[in-house]
Amino acid sequence: MMKIIVLGSAAGGGYPQWNCNCHNCDGLRRGAIRSRPRTQSSIAISANGQDWLLVNASPDILTQIRATPALQPARTARDSGIAAVLLMDAQVDHVTGLMMLREGKRIHLYCSAAVWEDLNAGLPLARVLSHYCGVEWHELPVAQGDRCSFSVPQLEGLRFTAVPLDSKAPPYSPHRDAPVAGDNIGLLVQDLATGSKLFYAPGLGSISPTTAAAMREADCLMVDGTFWTEDEMITLRFSSKPAAAMGHLPQSGPGGMIEVLDGLPASRKVLIHINNTNPILDEEAPQHVLLRRHGIEVAFDGMELEL
Ligand code: MLT
Ligand code: MN
Ligand code: ZN
Repeated sequence: MMKIIVLGSAAGGGYPQWNCNCHNCDGLRRGAIRSRPRTQSSIAISANGQDWLLVNASPDILTQIRATPALQPARTARDSGIAAVLLMDAQVDHVTGLMMLREGKRIHLYCSAAVWEDLNAGLPLARVLSHYCGVEWHELPVAQGDRCSFSVPQLEGLRFTAVPLDSKAPPYSPHRDAPVAGDNIGLLVQDLATGSKLFYAPGLGSISPTTAAAMREADCLMVDGTFWTEDEMITLRFSSKPAAAMGHLPQSGPGGMIEVLDGLPASRKVLIHINNTNPILDEEAPQHVLLRRHGIEVAFDGMELEL
């Protein structure tokens, strides 16, 4: 059976965000709304409950590990349940936690060539880590429009498929304005014993035929819950960018994520990577209630799923 632990369910900045006084951040701090704090985006996956694949390394990783006994098995004087790390993209909220793993063993890192390049150029964390634990890169050979399957030797019993997504490289990337396949991926994970499948995509800008096919196969979907509306950050005057410019499909409106999820057969549909401005974080907000009516769950830190 595949186990999934949500380590962090918020988008970049976390919730509440340090400098933010939006309805949610301010309301949560003052105890004025029904809502819970969330750390930045990451999940852990295991088939045996002992060896875990860390999917994305959040800046909040140390807090997340402390909150998750399964990642601290204490079998030897120095030990971790994290057997390998996989990156969906090279965004700050998904990679900077790698720095906090420097005291450990050489990191088995699974990512595309595009992400590996970013980690050696625009944000050279791999080069920095070579002076500490070191990183062993395992390439995910994604090509445009084509998915690729692979296994992770430490994660016996699971089969992985990377699905290239239409999205954007991070602002610091040398290929920010010239997207390449592998800047962002979705991940299909199959438990070989039960056959059941998870599709995970915390950043999903639009849904290509390849992505739609992968989503249709999944028994459980954990997908981009960043924004409720396309102009959420603009209306609040926090940014000049619409959701699409940041590579995120909003939930509401025609063609939005709710409509997409309504058309899919998965038995569990979960929104993850939720920005602190998103009204769904307020459990009494009509938007949150609407999601429930559509059978859509809102991920929270510590949420556990079994497939
Ligand atoms: C995003 O996915 O757009 C981010 O959360 C950006 C960030 O980490 O600042
Ligand atoms: Mn993000
Ligand atoms: Zn906020």
